[in-house]
Amino acid sequence: MKPEHLEKARSEIGIRRNRALTRNEERFDEINTLIPEIAEINRQLFQTSRNLMQIIQQGEDTAKRIEALRQQNQQAQLMVRSLLKSHGYPENYLDVEYTCPICSDTGIVGGKYCDCLKTLAAKIAADELNRNAHVKLCSFDTFDLSYYKGKKTEGGKDCYTAMETIYNFCREYAANFSKESPSILMFGGTGLGKTHLSLSIASEVLRKGFSVLYDSVINFLRQIENEHFGRDRSDSDTLTMLLECDLLILDDLGTEFDTPFYQSTIYNIINTRMNRSLPTIISTNMDWSGISHKYEERITSRIFATYVNQHFFGYDVRILKAKQNNPRAVDKSTF
Ligand SMILES: Nc1ncnc2c1ncn2[C@@H]1O[C@H](COP(=O)(O)OP(=O)(O)OP(=O)(O)O)[C@@H](O)[C@H]1O
Ligand SMILES: [Mg+2]
Ligand SMILES: [Zn+2]
Repeated sequence: MKPEHLEKARSEIGIRRNRALTRNEERFDEINTLIPEIAEINRQLFQTSRNLMQIIQQGEDTAKRIEALRQQNQQAQLMVRSLLKSHGYPENYLDVEYTCPICSDTGIVGGKYCDCLKTLAAKIAADELNRNAHVKLCSFDTFDLSYYKGKKTEGGKDCYTAMETIYNFCREYAANFSKESPSILMFGGTGLGKTHLSLSIASEVLRKGFSVLYDSVINFLRQIENEHFGRDRSDSDTLTMLLECDLLILDDLGTEFDTPFYQSTIYNIINTRMNRSLPTIISTNMDWSGISHKYEERITSRIFATYVNQHFFGYDVRILKAKQNNPRAVDKSTF
């Protein structure tokens, strides 16, 4: 974990804690004004803590007196709960509502970092990496199936129906996503919506609170290479993040150069995530024979054996959209 991500996470958790405490104070003010019986008990509870100080200072019969005070305190709190209930409030209305009850939003539990802090630091690191992807997150709602009307697949099937099946699969995949979800290979020609649908999945899975990393294979590989060969001194560990995130999206497989380092890194990513049963979504313009041609068998056999294949068909939507936006410009180019 990079110290700066940890620091950002700690400050975010500090904000959560302040927010929870402020909200609690506001509730105390509200209830003290509305329910005088509770205001009185709260005053007594406040007095209890002063009494406690006195008992400790006096040092006589300390244990016994503290225990008596504790019981008194407990009864008073039970009374507050039942009064809250009888006034139509939830019993725990005056409890502080921490985002993480385990560490009371301090980020530390038992002298160690709480999981909430580690998760948040990882999320901050992932957001930073994803921001470099320069891709606006797409959504299922902006995916229009009518672009696929009127064209047949190579097998003579209707493209619209084929793409509708893929679209429904992706929607369900995102809706039911878990760390045990299968990996997906999206393949097909350019502009058919592979990146759009994989980013729609990313967007929804991120919303559910999972860690998701998405970028083109080439960008990921360049970053890993820079870190590996020491050109990037930022001390970040992109490869570890890629190996560990809940969902990894590798866009445009096949556009990277053929180098032994890239091949072995791709193998490492695919193999490690498979061994950990973590899902990966790969999109590529290559068909099966292209993939087999470009990559070693130890990579391809893994992809073919374990990934759900989604073959995209249709017109290049990039071109269709350009035509819609600027019909004259494209008309000219067709002459
Ligand atoms: N069905 C669709 N409805 C709306 N917009 C779409 C649809 N399919 C693709 N697009 C848009 O068209 C453009 C190209 O799509 P996308 O980038 O998803 O294609 P791709 O299959 O990933 O292509 P490539 O193989 O070149 O990477 C994007 O701007 C995308 O948002
Ligand atoms: Mg793409
Ligand atoms: Zn915590």
